[in-house]
Amino acid sequence: MNEAIPQLSSYDESSLDAAFATLAEEVCVETAAHLDVEAFRLRWLGRKQGRLKLVSDAWLKSAPAESRKPLGMRFNELKQQIEAALADAAAAPVARTAKAGIDITLPGTVRTPGIEHPLLKTMHEIVRVFHQLGYSTALGPQVESDFFNFEALNFPPNHPARDTQDTLVLAGQQAKPSRDRLLMRTHTSPVQIRTMIAEAPPIRIVVPGKVHRNDAADATHSPVFHQVEGLCVDTNITFSDLKGTLDHAMKALFGSGVKTRFFPSFFPFTEPSADVQISCIFCAGKGCRKCKSSGWIELLGCGMVDPAVFASVDEQRVALGGQAAYDPAKITGFAFGMGVERIAMIQHGVSDIGQFYSGDMRFLEQFA
Ligand code: PHE
Repeated sequence: MNEAIPQLSSYDESSLDAAFATLAEEVCVETAAHLDVEAFRLRWLGRKQGRLKLVSDAWLKSAPAESRKPLGMRFNELKQQIEAALADAAAAPVARTAKAGIDITLPGTVRTPGIEHPLLKTMHEIVRVFHQLGYSTALGPQVESDFFNFEALNFPPNHPARDTQDTLVLAGQQAKPSRDRLLMRTHTSPVQIRTMIAEAPPIRIVVPGKVHRNDAADATHSPVFHQVEGLCVDTNITFSDLKGTLDHAMKALFGSGVKTRFFPSFFPFTEPSADVQISCIFCAGKGCRKCKSSGWIELLGCGMVDPAVFASVDEQRVALGGQAAYDPAKITGFAFGMGVERIAMIQHGVSDIGQFYSGDMRFLEQFA
């Protein structure tokens, strides 16, 4: 903004009034336009190139002696106007906004806060139920070794029980001994082993986490899904502790009206093993489409820790320079594992697991 100096045609009173009125108007317009305060100050009051200095130099140069005083007085007034505008801007930016016609009492832009993803919400709910029973959270890696995912859990190499866990293995592992080969963990159970190697009993942990299986995606399967594992090891832990704990957990998650029942099952790392069913929450056990007319919904696997697992844990503890602490004659425990997606689908009546991963706001917003 380096425009020309206005011309002053004559030094009589009315010409001076008109010329200064034009300058005052210029200041007003710029004040209302909210120029940057410092730029405005420099433009008018700058010592060398300030507009006030340039104009007064130009007009005073050719002024007759008797006009110097009225000119000087008018320049002082103009300077005061500029300084007042500057003080105004510095003191009350909000008042200036209001002056410019913006209604600051109008409601602002509403930003809706984010929500927990429904899967995480269910996962945290499950974990909280066990925290309230005194369990703490343990975590482990998703890229796991064959030893922790299988061998220490009593799945020997080439054992057919491995077929139940469609495993995604990492490339380029053939040169390593089989127990050191890396794979994507197929369940959260390896964290049982990691925890028992690191700590002596008593142990009460829950393990939330992502697991991976070579499953084709369909309405109920996803190659990446979530589990919550539980492990309780101490002296005198019995199958009735397992039953009581899981019955309580299912009632806490699905309502105090649900019943549980335990069916014989098989897992290499628990003996005896069981599948847990809850009475169908959709038909209260009468039989419907969701429970395939059986009145029961299968929800999780569990069992008493197999002595072979304690043996491999102790072997590893000793190999690492520690002490054996899991003598199966003194120590017993139970373990369980549940799928988070399956529980969330039942809680919310979701029929396609893919909805959880779609990122579709129309689906996710329903959980807000
Ligand atoms: N890890 C088992 C699975 O993913 C579930 C399970 C955990 C069973 C703990 C028993 C005890 O199939």
